[in-house]
Amino acid sequence: MRHTALAQTWFLSLRQGRQDPDMIYFDNAATTWPKPPQVIETMVQCMEQGGGNPGRAGHRLALEAGRIVYAARRAVAELVNAPDPMRVVLTANVTEALNLALHGLLRPGDHVITSSMEHNSVMRPLRALEAEGVELTVIACSPDGALDPGEVEAAIRARTAMIVLTHASNVAGTLLPIAEVGQIARRHGVLFLVDAAQTAGACPLDVQSAAIDLLAFTGHKSLYGPMGTGGLVIGPRVNADRLRPLKQGGTGSRSELEHQPAFLPDMCESGTPNVVGLAGLVAGVDWVRRRGVEAIRAHEMALTRRLLDGLAAIRGVRVYGPQNPQQQVAVVSLRIDGMAPDEIGLRLDEEHGILCRVGLHCAPAAHRTMGTFPTGTVRFGLGALNTADEVDASLAAVDCLARKGQ
Ligand code: ALA
Repeated sequence: MRHTALAQTWFLSLRQGRQDPDMIYFDNAATTWPKPPQVIETMVQCMEQGGGNPGRAGHRLALEAGRIVYAARRAVAELVNAPDPMRVVLTANVTEALNLALHGLLRPGDHVITSSMEHNSVMRPLRALEAEGVELTVIACSPDGALDPGEVEAAIRARTAMIVLTHASNVAGTLLPIAEVGQIARRHGVLFLVDAAQTAGACPLDVQSAAIDLLAFTGHKSLYGPMGTGGLVIGPRVNADRLRPLKQGGTGSRSELEHQPAFLPDMCESGTPNVVGLAGLVAGVDWVRRRGVEAIRAHEMALTRRLLDGLAAIRGVRVYGPQNPQQQVAVVSLRIDGMAPDEIGLRLDEEHGILCRVGLHCAPAAHRTMGTFPTGTVRFGLGALNTADEVDASLAAVDCLARKGQ
């Protein structure tokens, strides 16, 4: 009973938040909110009418659940122009997908190249692998987060097995030159892994034309699905025989074997999948595709331009990153003179109803690159559902705080 009451209180406060005209949600880089109604409706429908365990039986509910799981693979494959939905491995989040690619494919003696703008979902597995004998080169980006592809090419050695880059920094928003680096990787026969946490659904992505071998994505950001969904798109150049799964267990396939099946996607997907979440992911991707990734990108660029122009006119505000919507996603990091980022975040929330993320954003290397370590920044993460009025209200709030800080 106590849990039911708690859940109801929580749900009520969420509903109130959603209806609160004074609340502005600018933390879409952490997770998009609110979700499109059809995402929620699809998940409820799945709970009410679905209920089977995919691949674990031949009855109608199990088959329907299997169709949902396949629909999730296909939806993502189509969105990023991946040729084979069966090489979309579904994971709990982008971190798991990145860990699968890194721990699954790298071996002691291999050399890896990455950038200094990476999130800890890349840095921490790479540092752990370094301790096991993988060699690592971190290319220093400029303070606005830009990466010179020539430096990546110059760092390639005979033992280089992989290049790993974020598509866009979760701190500065900076877009990294993945198409150029993809071509470099292809020329040198090196695998190319892209962390698309901040871009899948927000920027056009084509794994074939960008020569991406491994694309890690999350469902709960710009694909507008729920938390607990994500995956790894595995291209044809990746030899699945070399891929070590992160876990072993039941897959519903080859149940006669006590060893893990050796084929994708089953080899990497042990345990009952998050079917309800995947149903929501299918609805989220559908919502994104109906709206159009190009249209979402154009909307977010216009909002980013408005925010950047407004911030540039406020004394005492320092903005990080490229400060050019063409060169970044809708993520803007800032500081206000004389005020700590956590105080700014608190006051934006409590005094102005504006929800941002403050601190290091799980990306200490990016903050070292930007010169904002260890206190970090205040980050505005804009989304497809934000409006120009919300940007204007935020500018007024930042202006108010900047005046108090002087
Ligand atoms: N990686 C997410 C963020 O940047 C959670 O906030």
